[in-house]
Amino acid sequence: MRSDNGQTYGTISRILHWSMALCFGFMLYTGLLDEESFRSLLPYHKSVGTILMVLIILRVIWAKINRKNRPQPSNIFVVLGHSVLYLLMVLVPLTALIRQYGGARGPLEVFGVKVMDDAAQKIEWMTSIGNSLHGTLAWALFVLAAGHIIMAIYHQIKGEKILNRMMH
Ligand code: HEM
Ligand code: HEM
Repeated sequence: MRSDNGQTYGTISRILHWSMALCFGFMLYTGLLDEESFRSLLPYHKSVGTILMVLIILRVIWAKINRKNRPQPSNIFVVLGHSVLYLLMVLVPLTALIRQYGGARGPLEVFGVKVMDDAAQKIEWMTSIGNSLHGTLAWALFVLAAGHIIMAIYHQIKGEKILNRMMH
């Protein structure tokens, strides 16, 4: 197992980055479906989304622990970009989970296993947080992630080999 260092991300950081990227790919796929297909995949959307909530908490802690031991961002835009990605990765599932609880429509299940009860009655501010923010912030996250991917490939082609930090 490799740890993070100034040149490259270590094993745990890579597992977190790529497993989450895969999950986000699935979330994007469900988000692009028509209403009916989305509804039929909603239990999976919620399950994978809840797993992402757990993974992002671990990832934030891991990033804090290793902050000084990682490839350092080359400019302020990288710092900003990664920070906003982190913020959105927290807020998107969090707003959904708050709505899930306040919606009082039944417990939350992750692949059939109950992980959170719902409120006894509907809690208005909780549902409005989810309704006004979850979808909008999710699209913002996907746009930013697309920019992130394009920049990673661009720098790689320019010869800065930054993909190697997450891959080799
Ligand atoms: C990081 C994780 C998540 C991402 C990226 C994500 C993404 C999305 C996207 C793109 C949409 C479609 C919005 C639209 O139609 O414009 C959506 C809708 C929805 N998501 Fe998520 N989601 C995540 C986590 C969750 C979780 C954890 C839950 C529930 C426990 C959830 C429940 C819902 C519901 C009920 C909808 C339909 C209502 C709405 O559009 O807000 N999502 N999500
Ligand atoms: C094909 C997809 C992707 C590629 C090729 C890619 C590539 C990379 C590379 C090369 C780095 C290291 C950058 C550096 O230190 O200079 C990185 C870091 C990072 N990536 Fe991605 N990425 C992808 C998907 C995603 C997605 C979907 C997200 C979030 C939604 C994401 C969030 C981050 C964040 C926050 C970092 C900072 C380090 C960390 O926390 O792991 N990436 N990515």
